[in-house]
Amino acid sequence: MNIEKIATQISQRLGKYKPRTGIILGTGLGNLGNSIKSPQIIPYNKIDGFPVSTVSGHKGQLIIGELEGKEVLCMQGRVHLYEGHPASSINTIISAFRQIGIEELIVTNAAGSLHKDMPAGSLMLIKDHINLNIPNPLIGPNNEKYGPRFPDMSDAYTSSIREKIKKIAKTQKIKLFEGTYMMMLGPCFETSAEIKALQVLGADAVGMSTVPEVICAVHSGMKVLGISVITNLGTGIQEQKQSHEETLAQAAQAAEKLNILIKTYIRDKDNG
Ligand code: HPA
Repeated sequence: MNIEKIATQISQRLGKYKPRTGIILGTGLGNLGNSIKSPQIIPYNKIDGFPVSTVSGHKGQLIIGELEGKEVLCMQGRVHLYEGHPASSINTIISAFRQIGIEELIVTNAAGSLHKDMPAGSLMLIKDHINLNIPNPLIGPNNEKYGPRFPDMSDAYTSSIREKIKKIAKTQKIKLFEGTYMMMLGPCFETSAEIKALQVLGADAVGMSTVPEVICAVHSGMKVLGISVITNLGTGIQEQKQSHEETLAQAAQAAEKLNILIKTYIRDKDNG
């Protein structure tokens, strides 16, 4: 089974570390991984059975080490469903992380805003998500060892963690929006009509990731923190065309604020 195979291979490379916090860095947001001290670096393609990310702006390696004095395991670059990975491959990764001791998952992403007054460069704390159109990563036989058949999603983005982040944002004087994230499969950006539909559905930001990871994290009993970096307004809300290059450029600019939030949160955590 790939979960055990991957967990074993990562465990063998953990060295002295026993990280309990996992971090997934989104498009253009990989820089935080470079702040990890004494890192053990494992490229995804060196882990037999691990899906490999192929998108520019995603390095494709696990970094295990110390961030702000706390042990972390970081995915510098994620895998997306639009790359052709089956949704279940996300479950394999997250369940393997749980097997090696990860209890809390911090997910970041680049996203388009569905509100003019949440412009590019904003940070949005994810309070919930909408998944109507993406294959659920838990589809298939369920192994109770890794989590329940029917996970409860009522506090998927752990409210106690959201409260902590909001306090940190206030003290650090970082403006933090809070809203609902909707995933579209991609890889094309949305049409104007789709963006209007997402607004009606109640989403605040749209992106091409995160939801499967969070479903799997909840399934495996992890706490979750999710933050979107707004890199553009949704199609039709902004005049210029969408581009991956602009996503990367805006993400790099806003990453500094994101990194302060995450580093402060991790620094202030009680334990490893
Ligand atoms: N749509 C989908 N994904 C994205 C966007 C967007 O507008 N911006 C960054 N990732």
